[in-house]
Amino acid sequence: MKMRKRNIQKLYKLSPLLLAYVLFIAACQQEPISSTKTASVEKETLVVDVSNPISEIQPTMYGIFFEDINFAADGGLYAEMIKNRSFEFESPTMGWEQPNSDRHSMNENSGFATVMNTGATGGNQHFLHVKVKADNAYVLANEGFRGMGVKADAVYELTMLTRLQSGTPMKLKCQLVTEEGKVLGETAVEVGNKTWETKEVTINTTGTEPKAKFQIVFENQGEIDLDMVSLFPQDTWMGRKKGLRKDLVQLLADLDPGFLRFPGGCIVEGSELEKRYQWKKTVGSIMDREVLINRWNTEFDHRPTPDYFQSFGLGFFEYFQLSEDLGAEPLPILSCGMACQFNSAELVPMDQLEPYVQDALDLIEFANGPVNSQWGKLRAEMGHPEPFNMKYIGVGNEQWGPEYIKRYKVFDKAIKEKYPEMIIVSGSGPFPDGEHFDYAMGELKAMNVEIIDEHYYRNPEWFLENADRYDNYDRNGPKIFAGEYAAQSVAIASPENKNNWECALSEAAFMTGLERNAEVVHLTSYAPLMAHAEGWQWTPDLIWFNNLASYGTANYYVQKLYANNPGTHLVPLKSNGAALTGQKGLYASATIDVNANELILKVVNSSNNVKALDLELPDGTKIGNKVEMHVLANPDLDTVNSFETPEAISPEIKEVEINGKVTDLAIQPQSLSIIRIGLLTET
Ligand code: AHR
Repeated sequence: MKMRKRNIQKLYKLSPLLLAYVLFIAACQQEPISSTKTASVEKETLVVDVSNPISEIQPTMYGIFFEDINFAADGGLYAEMIKNRSFEFESPTMGWEQPNSDRHSMNENSGFATVMNTGATGGNQHFLHVKVKADNAYVLANEGFRGMGVKADAVYELTMLTRLQSGTPMKLKCQLVTEEGKVLGETAVEVGNKTWETKEVTINTTGTEPKAKFQIVFENQGEIDLDMVSLFPQDTWMGRKKGLRKDLVQLLADLDPGFLRFPGGCIVEGSELEKRYQWKKTVGSIMDREVLINRWNTEFDHRPTPDYFQSFGLGFFEYFQLSEDLGAEPLPILSCGMACQFNSAELVPMDQLEPYVQDALDLIEFANGPVNSQWGKLRAEMGHPEPFNMKYIGVGNEQWGPEYIKRYKVFDKAIKEKYPEMIIVSGSGPFPDGEHFDYAMGELKAMNVEIIDEHYYRNPEWFLENADRYDNYDRNGPKIFAGEYAAQSVAIASPENKNNWECALSEAAFMTGLERNAEVVHLTSYAPLMAHAEGWQWTPDLIWFNNLASYGTANYYVQKLYANNPGTHLVPLKSNGAALTGQKGLYASATIDVNANELILKVVNSSNNVKALDLELPDGTKIGNKVEMHVLANPDLDTVNSFETPEAISPEIKEVEINGKVTDLAIQPQSLSIIRIGLLTET
């Protein structure tokens, strides 16, 4: 089908029909959206039974999936600007430069920094010892995450641990500079204390620069120690110190997500068990959080990122806090003792599984337990005595085969015994079909598990063809969590994949099927969520950012339209007696919002024709004189949003006069329309 669509587009480009087509599209855009005065308009009647709700739409229906992939945490959401602030990367000075150190023969008398062992284990094993031989001769610089985004007239908060080793107090000039060395802002620090001391200062900036760096100019001779050199913008999400990047969280908040799944993704599993995500190492003092190589550091030869590590400054407490900020249910996914089966597939023996299970039980206590419990106490000490009210917990990410089922059963039993109210999410593996999927589904259904996580990374045709995936799914079986999905324009994990309109539209079509089956589909999330334009490993992604800017993709706006217009109850929608699952390029679902007393239609038109919709409602149903339409449309399926054109595909909101009856409501070609219709009678 993709080939066919592409050929059609090419044909239009080559033939005189192009002109007619362009004029036709232009006319559609200029005319009121309800106008359908063209020959190629096709009529369609939707019969919507607003008085017979099928089921509730779960408040969790549209959520988000966060994984630290593509620099999504360090270098992204977590607003720390210094890379390797604590000298704990595998190469402890990675990210740091000494441009004029005394290792260069021409600067023999400048100075040098040496990495020292603290002698401790855990989070803080190294610090930096700096020996300066001449005044103003030595500089230590940090490159940030592909540079640092600095804004003019902003305040940056610098903290660092310092200690004077010998000599007179050391004067430091701490600066933000451009690549060319122009100073954007600076502040002075004096190190005179012979025991470790935290310095807290601010830098006010005068210029904007996407690729700034931070540097310390050592103004006099002497020897000092440095550790935890940290720089954050003052203007973070909710103004929290050492917090999250405001523009990125705002994009998430605008989605109004029903849940936040974290921390992944494959990152949960680790390429080996040793490198799995261990939540206990991500809470408590930031100093004590043990830096770990990011599993995406080495995953793809096509996008090597040797400087990708996890500081865990964004750890489990912060994830819970973010969930709370967003009004989203926290949904942590934990290792089940199986490393990534695409990597080592390392297994913890069954008789050594207990610590993994204990981690799950302790996490529930951390999130929900009383402040006098061991883990609840830590939560309180971190500033949140109230419970986070976590309701869901996931066991394993993309595991498959009998080893998963064996381990899942142990977790299930232990969690349910202690916390019967906890809803456990199980997984069906990486693929939406095939031997592993069938096996997992069979076993999990036999166990009558509550929710199964399914992943679909497939081409756009698959999404169009699978809008009916759950139409015949057992209504009494486990509920579905469409936990990771994204249409792949080329192939899974291809670096050529694009967030184009073709992919986004196909996801929109598929989502009518998820919503139409809200009886069984309780949670859904696109994946991955975020990517740094220079630090990514995986594409497509919902949100792209660099060090200064960010934008939502076409796929983001699809998610946003669904998540902002969920409705409270699913109602039947039929055309010619059947659900709309792609007949003549149309896909649709219908919900009502009993609070707003509105009918909400979601209609995808993947054809090249305008559709003229008539709406039939039960006798006696009265509707208002206007409908509100949120339309995402573009005749060019290759269109993408970008930093230059961040809203090339973004919703247009229109009010359309209907005079109490929907007839000939125009649905544009290649579009997703959310149609909100006021109901004047109670449903
Ligand atoms: O979303 C990227 C990766 O895709 C996830 O980490 C993994 O769960 C899936 O294979």
